[in-house]
Amino acid sequence: MARSCLSIADINDSDVSRLFFAARKFKTEGFSQHQHRFSVVTLFLEPSTRTRMSFQMAAYKLNGTCFDFDKDTSSLKKGESLEATIENIACLNPDLLIMRQSETLDRDFLAGIDIPVINAGDGMNEHPTQALLDCFTLCETFRAKDLQGKKILFVGDLMRSRVFNSNVKLLKRMGAQVATIGSASQPVDKIYPSFDVIDQEFDAVMVLRKQKERALASTHEIFTECLTGEHLARLGQSCFLLHPGPVMLKEDIEPTLFSHERTLILEQVRNGLFIRAALLQHCLGG
Ligand code: CP
Repeated sequence: MARSCLSIADINDSDVSRLFFAARKFKTEGFSQHQHRFSVVTLFLEPSTRTRMSFQMAAYKLNGTCFDFDKDTSSLKKGESLEATIENIACLNPDLLIMRQSETLDRDFLAGIDIPVINAGDGMNEHPTQALLDCFTLCETFRAKDLQGKKILFVGDLMRSRVFNSNVKLLKRMGAQVATIGSASQPVDKIYPSFDVIDQEFDAVMVLRKQKERALASTHEIFTECLTGEHLARLGQSCFLLHPGPVMLKEDIEPTLFSHERTLILEQVRNGLFIRAALLQHCLGG
């Protein structure tokens, strides 16, 4: 049965276990092209490097063909609506549609198009595949099947981040305790008003880029400090550093932290390939 993944809520707990198992198998044993041929359309209306490329690479490695929709040479330029564009693409019968856009995806509309859809990031709403690969990376790092009792701190733009929204929901389901510096768009276990008042060690800290391309309500403040080696040391000698990318060096993190021994940033990208391959199989009904 083909399945969509528009939100992290569309992936239940046993799906998460199965996806992590499949991703670990791809990572340790490689890709066997046992999958029947399939076609995927990547319809990205916002820039992307990691998400788009890892979906394309995952499709290729599973014996699929990826067709990349180019908004700048498409009939969107002539004024065709996005809904009509999707309906027309659906008539060409791809097996899967992968979408990124600056607005929340319209679940009701997409339910009517008869092709499974994966959300590759929609505005300030969700980025479910990022949450899956981040939690997978943490489980691998801690050599654990879940994140029971792990303490995760988020810093950065917590009001506009779709990565934060999906991550908090999945982290909590996996047993983690989530804290933030400054207000956030999702309920968390603890909010620190500033870095100076942090009174405990953390297992991981995730830094989130300032989403300058999205408007911020003037009443909200975000942590604008760049995370330094000194900050990381204060979070404990076993605190790992994550960032979903793209990383703004000197703005989000001090440049030397990018290659710190406890930095998982490129490991997150590596794992994105395996998790997205597992999700392609899941959504195609494999
Ligand atoms: N993390 C993430 O979504 O990166 P891209 O915008 O490059 O896809």
